[in-house]
Amino acid sequence: MFKINQHPLERTQLLELATKYGSPLYVYDTDKIEAQYNRLTNAFSTVKNLKLNYAVKALSNINILKFLQGIGAGLDTVSIQEVQLGLTTGIDPKKIIFTPNGVSLTEIEEVAKLGVQINIDNLSILELFGQKHPKIPVCVRINPHIMAGGNSKISVGHIDSKFGISIHQVPHIKRVVENTGMNINGIHMHTGSDILDIDTFLRATEILFDVAKQFENIDFIDFGSGFKVPYKEGDISTDIEQLGLQLSERFNDFCVEYGKEITLMFEPGKFLVSEAGVFLAKVNVVKQTTSTVFAHVDSGFNHLVRPMMYDSYHHITNISNTEGRDRYYSVVGYICETDTFGSNRRISEISEEDVLCFHNAGAYCFSMASNYNSRYLPAEVMVHRGEDYLIRKRQTIQDILHNQEVVDFSIIKKNSEEAIPA
Ligand SMILES: Cc1ncc(COP(=O)(O)O)c(C=O)c1O
Repeated sequence: MFKINQHPLERTQLLELATKYGSPLYVYDTDKIEAQYNRLTNAFSTVKNLKLNYAVKALSNINILKFLQGIGAGLDTVSIQEVQLGLTTGIDPKKIIFTPNGVSLTEIEEVAKLGVQINIDNLSILELFGQKHPKIPVCVRINPHIMAGGNSKISVGHIDSKFGISIHQVPHIKRVVENTGMNINGIHMHTGSDILDIDTFLRATEILFDVAKQFENIDFIDFGSGFKVPYKEGDISTDIEQLGLQLSERFNDFCVEYGKEITLMFEPGKFLVSEAGVFLAKVNVVKQTTSTVFAHVDSGFNHLVRPMMYDSYHHITNISNTEGRDRYYSVVGYICETDTFGSNRRISEISEEDVLCFHNAGAYCFSMASNYNSRYLPAEVMVHRGEDYLIRKRQTIQDILHNQEVVDFSIIKKNSEEAIPA
């Protein structure tokens, strides 16, 4: 159950961090990440070979990657750049899986050259890759045609989704394997984020077991992720312990049927880092209109886009004034478009300069931030064993200008004048 003050970092510590590092600011607590990691591993403790590959896309600061690697996680990546980020932390490339969607053969080949496990999600590239590199084992991403996930933008395992190779095309995968002599060593699915219905998830796992049986050299089955975490009071979340109980038993039976202790993999993002992060923003203006009281913060969808993009809920508290009278606010940003973080929220009375805390800001928040309106990306701070470390500096105008090339318009004018016939 979600509790407002559940965030492991103390309100006073967060206020100090906002003063020390400025606002807006992302803060991540490694203790919470570790607790979530342990929760997941404990839920599957009866499985002999369990591997958790952290989904780098959720929060890709290299210090977070390094921390997760230190507690035993591998990495799940979707671009060569994420692979490169992972490798800077010193991780063994064998502990990285590359699960891209719709990327070029060249990118896949470059990643394979680095020694990373490849996961291919379409027949066309599978065939090309198999013809050119039959000796490199490949995992295949299967689309089990299951409708799971919190909303249509994050449900990716249904029949109309662009992700994965349809279960109905497994005979075609086998044909490619026969023709190229390539080796399929893993079966993968990822059905979407915010899964609540364990039974639907378990149905999809049965589909993967059926597929895995059709290949001789399977080393692992990767069940993706999509575990729901609580966002607000009363929210239900994926019952990881129950899932662990049921899936572990079934997985262990499958290993016996298959005649080999294969590895059970997951690639959680949100589950590991969502609750570990908060976003702190300062109130610039409190504006009363005829119907609403707006609290404008020094941020916008350039820094936290999930509410606007997915209608995601981020609990908002006023950490500068927890004892005030509760009032109703629309918390909005400073962007020149509507950027509402939360409407009609009951929050302890807000004054200008107060610091608001946006909860569940560890996953898909900083990693989706942009420089829209030419604003700087916020700084990031990691709290590790109670000590705070700046893990990303706030940008400066130099960062905004970096890579922009200056064109000499006087030369263009001269050249184009010459080109005009007299
Ligand atoms: C292939 C894949 N694996 C793992 C994840 C992580 O999902 P979550 O953050 O819900 O755990 C995603 C999220 O988009 C994904 O696309």
